[in-house]
Formats: sequence, C-alpha cells, structure tokens
Amino acid sequence: MCGIFAYINFCTPRERKYILEVLVNGLKRLEYRGYDSAGPPIAVIKQRGKVSALEEKINSKKLDFEFKFSTHTGIAHTRWATHGVPNCVNSHPQRSDDNNEFVVVHNGILTNYKSFKTFLVSCHNYEFESDTDTEVIAKLIKYLWDNRESETIQFATLVERVIQQLEGAFALVFKSRYFPGQCIATRRGSPLLIGVHSKSKLSTDNIPILYSSFLDAYVMLFKGQFFPLVPNNTYVESPSILIGMKYRTCFQQTLFPTAGTNQSMQLCRLNSTTELVTQNGESEGIEFYFASDASAIIEHTNQVIFLEDDDVAAVVDGALTIHRVKRGKSTESTTRTVTSLQLELQQIMKGNFKSFMQKEIFEQPESVVNTMRGRMQWEEQRVVLGGLMDHIDEIRRCRRIIIIACGTSYHSAIATRQLIEEMTELPCVELASDFLDRETPIFRDDVCFFISQSGETADTLMALHYCKKRGSLTVGITNTVGSSISRITDCGVHINAGPEIGVASTKAYTSQFTALVMFALMMSEDRFSKRKRYLEIVNALKELPEKIKEVLTLDAEIKKLSDSLYKKKSLLVMGRGFNFATCLEGALKIKEITYMHSEGILAGELKHGPLALVDVDMPILMIVSKDNVYTKVQNALQQVVARHGRPIIICENDDEESVKYASHILKVPHTVDCLQGILTVIPLQLLSFHIAQLKGLDVDFPRNLAKSVTVE
Ligand code: F6R
Repeated sequence: MCGIFAYINFCTPRERKYILEVLVNGLKRLEYRGYDSAGPPIAVIKQRGKVSALEEKINSKKLDFEFKFSTHTGIAHTRWATHGVPNCVNSHPQRSDDNNEFVVVHNGILTNYKSFKTFLVSCHNYEFESDTDTEVIAKLIKYLWDNRESETIQFATLVERVIQQLEGAFALVFKSRYFPGQCIATRRGSPLLIGVHSKSKLSTDNIPILYSSFLDAYVMLFKGQFFPLVPNNTYVESPSILIGMKYRTCFQQTLFPTAGTNQSMQLCRLNSTTELVTQNGESEGIEFYFASDASAIIEHTNQVIFLEDDDVAAVVDGALTIHRVKRGKSTESTTRTVTSLQLELQQIMKGNFKSFMQKEIFEQPESVVNTMRGRMQWEEQRVVLGGLMDHIDEIRRCRRIIIIACGTSYHSAIATRQLIEEMTELPCVELASDFLDRETPIFRDDVCFFISQSGETADTLMALHYCKKRGSLTVGITNTVGSSISRITDCGVHINAGPEIGVASTKAYTSQFTALVMFALMMSEDRFSKRKRYLEIVNALKELPEKIKEVLTLDAEIKKLSDSLYKKKSLLVMGRGFNFATCLEGALKIKEITYMHSEGILAGELKHGPLALVDVDMPILMIVSKDNVYTKVQNALQQVVARHGRPIIICENDDEESVKYASHILKVPHTVDCLQGILTVIPLQLLSFHIAQLKGLDVDFPRNLAKSVTVE
C-alpha cells in the first residue's frame, strides 16, 4: 500500500537539500509499498511514477539549497493507487486549496468520503481537483478551520475533529501553513510509527497519552444524505431526521448548546502536557520521523513508538505529545512505549544482488535457521514456541484450528494443513477474504491463527477482529515486530525471517512454513502414537538449511531453462498432496513478477478440466515427490505425456522413473514428505526471477502490486 514518511526537526539547523534527501531516501525505502506516484511537499513537489523520477524532478528545480532553517517539517508519500489513476493531481499530498493551507498524506481507504464530498461541494461550494478519497480530508480540515469557534484552536484539535468524522482505514500526516513547524499524525487500521532520534538519551521510555472528551458520533441524515455535525452549523431542519439515540444526543448538544452541553464539542485537554524530553530536560535536538514502517527510519534511529488506532501524535515546538479521544469507560492503555528495534540498515540493503527478491531467495538457508533458532531444542528433540507457551493448554483443548491468511501466507497454511491435521487431528485453514464474505461461524473454543508477513494485511486484520469479537483465542504468525496483527492477537510466533522488501514473498513463505511445522510438532509432542513421525520431522528440520543450499545451486541451470520459457504466454504447474501448495505458490510467483499467465493445478483435478489445455506447445511443470501420492502423480504425468505434453519435472535426486518423461529435469534433495514443499518451491522462485529478468521487468516492484495490502 502507500508509504508515508515525514521528518520533523525543531532546532538543529539543516540545509533544505538535507531535508529533501532525508525525505526522498525515506520514500525509497518505502517504495515497495506503492510506486504509482510520489511527492514530498516542501512547496509541494509531485511526480507520477517511481521515487527516482521524483528525485530527478527535485534535482532539476532551482531550490535555494544553501539556506539553513532551524525548523523543518517535511511530509512525503509514495502511492499505490486506489481512488483515481496514478498522476500528479491524484498523488499526495492532497491539499485544501491553491495556497496549500492544509496538506495531508494518506495510506488507506475512506469508506464515507462521498457524503463529505457532496456536503462540501453542494453546501459550501468547495472545488475538488483530484479523484482521491484523501482530498476530502484536506478540505474537511480547512472547513473546520474556517468555521472554528476559537482563534486559539490547535492543529491537533482540528485533526481530532476530522478523524471523528472518518470511516475506513487511514494513516495520516498533516501539515499546515497556519501551524509552521508542526506536524500531526494519526492512524486507524493502517500502520504508522514514530522514530525518535536524539543526541542525548531520552529521559522517558513511556509517553503518557492525553485524553480528550469528544462525543462519539457526528453524523446526521439530512435530505437522504449523511452529513457531519460540526460546531456552529445551521443546516439542520428537524431533529426527527436523525437516526438512533447515539446521534440524538449529539444533535441536541450541537444544535441547542447550553452552558453544560456545548462544551462537549470542545476538546477538553487535560491540564498536564507531557513532552518527550532528553535527560538534560530539553527537547532541543530531537528529530522525529513518522513512517509507515521501520525500514524507512532505521538509518536514522532505532527508537520507535508504534501508534495505536485513534492516537493523534503532535510535534509542536520540538515536543511530541500523543492524545486520543476517550471512548466510554474502556480501560485503554495510558502510555505508549519507546521500543528499541533490532533491525539493521544492512538488512534492508541489496548488497551484491540484482534485486531484493533475489537476495531474499538466497537468504533462505539462513532465514529458516533464524525461524528455528532457540525454538528447536535439538538435543532434547523438543520444540518450544515461547510465544504460545502461556496458551498451549487452551490450544490443545480447542475444537477447531482455523488458519486465516491471504496470498503467499495462505499458501503456507495450505502447505502445512495436512501435517497439522495429521498431528492434531483437528480440521483447519481459511482464505481471509472468503472467510469474511461467508461470515464463517466462529466459536469460543476455536483457535484462530492469522498468518501475515507484514502483519498489516487488511483482510487478515478484519478477520482477526471478527474472531476476537466472537471470543476465540487468536494467534499471530508474522514477520513484523510491532505490526497490528502481532499486537492484537492473544499470542503468537514471530518468524524472524528478517525484513522482506521484494514485493513477491519468498523467504517469508519458507519461514511461515517452518513455523507452522514446528507448531504441529509442539502440539503432538506428548502423543505416543505420533512419536516416530515427530522424530522423523525433527531430524529433517535439522538438515533443512543444508538442503536448501543444495537446491540453490540449481540457479544457473534454472537461468538457462528460463531462456526457453520467457517468451511463452502461459505456464501450468501441477502436483498434489504436500506439493499442491508449491503449485499454487509457484504459479503466484510467475504471475506476479513475470506477468505470464500461470495456474497451480491439483493433479487429481487434471482430468476434470485442465487436461483440455495440454498439448505439445503448452509449457507444463510437474512436481513429483516420492511420498504417499507418488503413484497418483505418475498417473497424471502419463495423462500429460499421452497428450504430447513434455513437462519440466521437479523431482527428488533418485527418481529415475520421472526422468524418462521430462523435457527438462530439476532434481532436488529428498526430505520428509511434509517439508518437501520447501525444497520444491525454491526452483519456482528462481524460475520466476529469471524469467522476469529476461523480460526486462522490475522484479522488486511488479506493476499494480504493493507489499503490504492495508486496504480491503
Ligand atoms: C505474494 C505476496 C502476497 C502476500 C499477501 C499477504 O508474493 O506477497 O500474496 O502474501 O498480500 O500479505 P501478508 O503476508 O503481509 O499478510
């Protein structure tokens, strides 16, 4: 999805050039989240396309680089288009008017922007220039500013009022010419964190939250349209058009203000103001960064604060405050912690590799070790997933295990479903979007797993909220510390694969796979009937990293093979049993980075339709392992060959039978059946990489896709 980056520094004098470099660099690190257009507004500069195009545009402008400022705020954005095509007008920041009185960058999707647009256009003659939902936010804050009840209203108060009106998902950063040197950030449903850099040590690692007492609802129905209620508005005709008690309260207090009630429309700030200060008691020299994820700020600081939904973070005169609207009697946390990240800049650099994806494919021997590190106790032949220990009895007692995920993460669930069902004797696995569409029944004695590399995928996150509401135990399996899924779930496993920047997921898949296999083992360690199987898998896990290394030596051969494939229009990938997930995942990799049509086909379904596609010209790849479905896959192979198909075959080193029918053979080492999918998927990751390279495509930034899908 979109990437947000902002830099705020109150006192350290910096050249304009430095600020622009910081912003552009931040955007480059976030480019994998969206690359339709980019823009940092120090005087608004926008460009359609990638961040490098924006950089060129900035360099071609005659800016006074030498001039040093002591106050700097800059906000920047890289866009993954949702509303409106990628072009300069639709790129962010979106603005309130020609004078850029208020500008805003946004990651997410608003679901109620149309009613606001109608309200602003038809009742107040606002003119919109873009097709984005975001422009409504910029116009709405200006509307609140123009209709303010007090000259001393604060920027953060305006933002709080704006977000009271918004529905949908957002992370927002605002800037205004009326509040120079200030920057306000907020989020709901989309990720946002604050990086803090200070020359001296920070004196507090808990930032108190300031609560304000806004009412909950500000929406009314007027002539068939929903409009916001804001102070001093007079367009309401009759209270009877309001819906629901919740709104009635709001209505009465707004329309008929009395001494006691009109105050509810004012932000009642608590008396204390808490600043983030250094140990010598000054806020001087502190630099702040707002970013969609940690990779954008790690070169500046490893001190971060993860914002929660509805937090409003304001940097004013070099001091950070975080406040939020108090809702009901809920017992919300009253502080936000400053966390030290372990991430290293080097981990997000490409090094000698041509792309992040290639680097991440070759990191897999190491990333699976990191997933197992400290958890596989080899000598005792035990698996200890520390993050699940407090809940393991509850998990063992559950009625169903439901694994919910999207895309590649979903494939990791498919890959391990058979083993989890075998070891736990419980049914499992769901596709997040479909799960929600079906409003699947969930019970208190279900355990729901949410697998997500980013930990921010909107569908998975919504399914998590859905399951939490129904009282099930929720377990996160993510690769991103501090992500929404890792924070909201009751317990979980961090897969420790290291940052994955390439949009096409590779090492996260094999690490999710490994983590789920470890979970299956942990669930069955006390079962005598499963002991032999358990030990066989533990031993295979130990040898896995070396076997992955061996598979990676196929790289040159796969590169040669891609020569014969890169001009083809389609590639069918067939297999069954434990390798079916490899077919789905391999086909997804081919589709997303080579733009070739590709389909993962369950070999058992071949004769029920897909066989009609097979002829001498159709490229086919078959995955054959010596497991319990070997004979069945051989049958499918015969059916393909009988239709003049000459498949490329991925099989085990000692499979002499399959070799006879192959146009090309890729041999991988043998491992236990339930882990074979890790070894068979890697040739497909490499194949998609090489085909994309030969086609001259941008491997890390495939068109129309984004790394973290934070919208529905
Ligand atoms: C494909 C890919 C996507 C993601 C999917 C879920 O290579 O990366 O299919 O797997 O968007 O993302 P996460 O795992 O972040 O929830």
